[in-house]
Amino acid sequence: MAFPIDRLRRLRQSPGLRRLVRETTLDAGDFVMPLFVRPGKGERRAIKSMPGHFQYSVDETVKACAPLVSAGVPGVILFGIPDKKDARASNAYAKDGIVQKAARAIKDKYPELVLMADLCFCEYTDHGHCGVVEDGQILNDPTLELAAKTAVSQAEAGFDVIAPSGMMDGQVAAIRKALDSSGKSMTPILAYAAKYSSAFYGPFRDAAESPPKFGDRSSYQMDPANFNEALRETALDVAEGADMVMVKPALPYLDVLRAVKDRFGLPTAAYAVSGEFSMIKAAAANGWIDEKRAALESLTSIKRAGADFILTYYALEAARWLA
Ligand code: PBG
Repeated sequence: MAFPIDRLRRLRQSPGLRRLVRETTLDAGDFVMPLFVRPGKGERRAIKSMPGHFQYSVDETVKACAPLVSAGVPGVILFGIPDKKDARASNAYAKDGIVQKAARAIKDKYPELVLMADLCFCEYTDHGHCGVVEDGQILNDPTLELAAKTAVSQAEAGFDVIAPSGMMDGQVAAIRKALDSSGKSMTPILAYAAKYSSAFYGPFRDAAESPPKFGDRSSYQMDPANFNEALRETALDVAEGADMVMVKPALPYLDVLRAVKDRFGLPTAAYAVSGEFSMIKAAAANGWIDEKRAALESLTSIKRAGADFILTYYALEAARWLA
């Protein structure tokens, strides 16, 4: 069949028809909000490159969860800015580490909120790399020992999901083993399976105070040019025991997202990263783009490409727009 029998415009004639045939829908339940936790009390420091976002002290982080819970956002992912950074990332696995404290405080007030822990060391090391450094090299296997300790410490603090983002080989297996032998066999792992070495993390590195002091992350994060490698990364994480996988960033990697969803069929997340957020904010602030439409179109596209849920700095605004 073809034109003139087929006329695809027939089903685009009215809002009701368009709604009935819509293939992808978005709602508050699709989102996870990243939050940045810093030391102190009663502190909310604006993150300049990410309008509307703050570094919150623990008490303020709890307060920041209130509107998310009211808007129906099911989860948050926490990033910590410790008061002291060192070569071994000690605060990442300290019992009273910054995100551990925040997790206990949030669980106390909002037990139903899904609490995700980003497991990485760049915010905790004095050199800003995501692992143990020796002679200018980022060492893989020694980093796994720290990852194992950190996962257990995060699970014990009350995190519901552990999300390793350091892109060390074998990190999912190391974390699964450590959790299982610490009575945390029911704590799921969300693997940042295909995480690219991306310029779109720029604003985040301001927010988390985590830029590397030397070199860059391209010896562990993926080359943006690679697709097959993303499938290999994901296959390994699945084999190592990942319960959910993630592609990051989102919009520039929708091809990867679609393939990961089709190939593995696991619950799949996408991280719409800081740069994706800030670009829309900046264009909107200049009057160059309709913020609400652009943000919702981006989120819809990410879901259409296969994401079951989206980590996004638009979580609260989008949940409200969609209510
Ligand atoms: C690593 C981490 C990063 C992001 C999430 N986890 C930064 C990086 O790899 O440099 C970026 C998130 C964003 O840009 O929104 N801890």
